[in-house]
Amino acid sequence: MSFFNQPIQLGNLTLKNRVFLAPLAGVSDVPFRRICQELGAGLTYVEMLSATAIAYKNKRTFEMMARHASESILGVQVTGPSAEQVAHAVSVLDQQGFDTIDINMGCPVRKVVTAGCGSGILREPERISKTVELARSATARPLSAKFRLGYTREEVNVVNTVERVLAENVDMFTIHGRTRSESYSTPCDLMGIKLAIDTALSKQKSVIKVGNGDIFNYASARKMQEETTCDAVMVSRGALGNPWIFKEILLAETVQPEFAEWLDLVLRHLAYQEEFFGKTKLAAILARKHLLWYTKGFPSSKSLRDVLNRVEDLDEARAHLKNYAANIAKDCIRFAGSASELTSDYDPKYEMDRKLDRGVGDEGMEEQVNS
Ligand SMILES: Cc1cc2nc3c(=O)[nH]c(=O)nc-3n(C[C@H](O)[C@H](O)[C@H](O)COP(=O)(O)O)c2cc1C
Repeated sequence: MSFFNQPIQLGNLTLKNRVFLAPLAGVSDVPFRRICQELGAGLTYVEMLSATAIAYKNKRTFEMMARHASESILGVQVTGPSAEQVAHAVSVLDQQGFDTIDINMGCPVRKVVTAGCGSGILREPERISKTVELARSATARPLSAKFRLGYTREEVNVVNTVERVLAENVDMFTIHGRTRSESYSTPCDLMGIKLAIDTALSKQKSVIKVGNGDIFNYASARKMQEETTCDAVMVSRGALGNPWIFKEILLAETVQPEFAEWLDLVLRHLAYQEEFFGKTKLAAILARKHLLWYTKGFPSSKSLRDVLNRVEDLDEARAHLKNYAANIAKDCIRFAGSASELTSDYDPKYEMDRKLDRGVGDEGMEEQVNS
């Protein structure tokens, strides 16, 4: 059995394996989570939620808390501008029945940080302690924090952050091996993660230590584990258009689905999309980004992406996919040229379509709430 394919205990929860899907704003909705769970993800999360929006009982935010009947274990993530707001949100999320709650201390998006949320907290170490302390008293469920190495390279403070969250008794932490100011072009700093994990090990506390950053296949997951000694990995961009990454890491071997299997899965994702969002234009618009990611790496697929990027109806998307399938060699291999193309440059800091980013830090949140 591979290292990753072993269960791990998170408080009262037994997670079936050690490969998690990150909370992904604008992405990790019910349909995508179902797909990742089917391909093996041991833990999945609802997209990051705003504590402010929860305080204002924002309708959209509560809709984002939806859970499918098949999701036996589901996590949620929250970010907020004050310890009190985060703690209040944690108590609400606890009552909503989420199995585990994570506090986001890493989101780099400017408007999130300006609102005092996400990685903004990394410059206020006292607030890190206070936030986890109050959150801890707001829930008995497994509690975790996800953070970066620091705000800038000059301000790396991950060891201190780990000491603080451990002192307030988190059950798990996830480290993304970059600073807030670094973009995806800076490689994930595994030694930075290792340093922080060593700190946790020296405290001899029972806590799950999760490594995150640049995991695009089994090789990079193994490298993360070997070089940092983390207990589990969290996959982010690596799952966009490639949910088979979970199967690959669990099997500890390259997984390349045949075209028929690929098409079957993409159509299943669209079926889940329709089940959840209805036969609506919104369902199609929200599916577009997934379709663009799924179709990357196939021969002559650029014109397919051009049309998929404009679909306003899921049936239209299905028709384009089936038409493409009818004209492509059945044994065609995705990324036949180079597997490295499975890596993604998608950076939400710059590229996330703000109109579709139904969540955190929206300007004028107070005006939008209850709308
Ligand atoms: C589309 C997108 C949305 C993201 N949303 C969140 C989020 O809601 N919460 C979070 O903690 N991290 C979020 N992240 C950051 C990732 O979880 C992860 O920390 C980061 O991408 C590094 O991992 P990677 O190099 O494997 O992608 C997001 C990343 C992407 C690409």
